[in-house]
Amino acid sequence: MKEILIIYYSQTGQLTDILKNIASTICDEKVNVSYHEIVPKKKFPFPWQQEEFYGAFPETFLQISAPLEDFPSEILQKKYDLVILGYTTWYLTPSIPINSFLKSAEAKTLLAKTPILTVSASRNMWIMAQEKMKKLLVANNANLVGNIALVDKNINHISVITIVHWLMGGKKTKMLGIFPKPGVSDSEIEAASRFGAPIKEALLQNEYAHLQDNLLELGAVKVDPSLIATDIRGNMVFTKWANHLIKKEGDDRKKWLVFFKYYLLFAIWLIAPIVFIVFLLTYLPMYRKIQKDKAYYSSVALKQD
Ligand SMILES: Cc1cc2nc3c(=O)[nH]c(=O)nc-3n(C[C@H](O)[C@H](O)[C@H](O)COP(=O)(O)O)c2cc1C
Repeated sequence: MKEILIIYYSQTGQLTDILKNIASTICDEKVNVSYHEIVPKKKFPFPWQQEEFYGAFPETFLQISAPLEDFPSEILQKKYDLVILGYTTWYLTPSIPINSFLKSAEAKTLLAKTPILTVSASRNMWIMAQEKMKKLLVANNANLVGNIALVDKNINHISVITIVHWLMGGKKTKMLGIFPKPGVSDSEIEAASRFGAPIKEALLQNEYAHLQDNLLELGAVKVDPSLIATDIRGNMVFTKWANHLIKKEGDDRKKWLVFFKYYLLFAIWLIAPIVFIVFLLTYLPMYRKIQKDKAYYSSVALKQD
């Protein structure tokens, strides 16, 4: 009997549905699938209020851990053949609950020398979060063997508008009845079951060398090259903001978080389109580098820096 553990954190249940659909085509009499939901001791709200949403930024981006509820001992005592780690991106970084887990002693116990498949469901800016994830997995001596990154496929700025409607309003519905539904589409969530077959094959043969290529053939990852530069630039600016905001306390922090909110709106609506135009203008001379980057960010390899 092969044992899979799915560890995840999902506020709205979108990622949970994706993980369950993937597992639905893996589990049978030869494969047992167990789930563990990460629960922070201090819950993050859903729907979000503005103050809490922006207030989560400094600790998320600086990857500061928050206390988590304990793992059941029966999970910690078992050795799993494969761990599927379901996470979402917050501020270009793995979310606080997932980051906290990856920095815990439990992660060392569960992940060391174990094949890991990451599954993310974000708006569309997940690339640098996955690079941070790769590093966290290396720190746990874990072996990343596959990655599935599902996103909202609508135009970038449309997805910015609709995600606010979803995360602040609490309902994954069509805003004003005319905007597309936010997040990963219902059909994509359902079709996530197709990823089960190559995962199961790799698990049963204990051979993961071709898993990511097989997942890529099924469309597990689509790197949008125009978002790579935005993500990298965003990380540079966020580093400055986060290091500044973390030093602020009380009303001073609240005041600076309001500035951060306006900066973020400015960056999304003005800087990101400029980065996009520069991307288009430099597309031909940069073509080879773009192809190289696409291949790298679709892979499970980690660049040495
Ligand atoms: C505080 C916060 C920050 C987020 N930042 C990003 C981001 O930087 N990039 C992105 O693609 N999605 C971002 N998202 C969207 C999430 O990745 C995710 O798709 C959404 O929260 C639904 O996840 P769930 O499964 O936990 O409900 C953010 C969400 C939250 C709550």
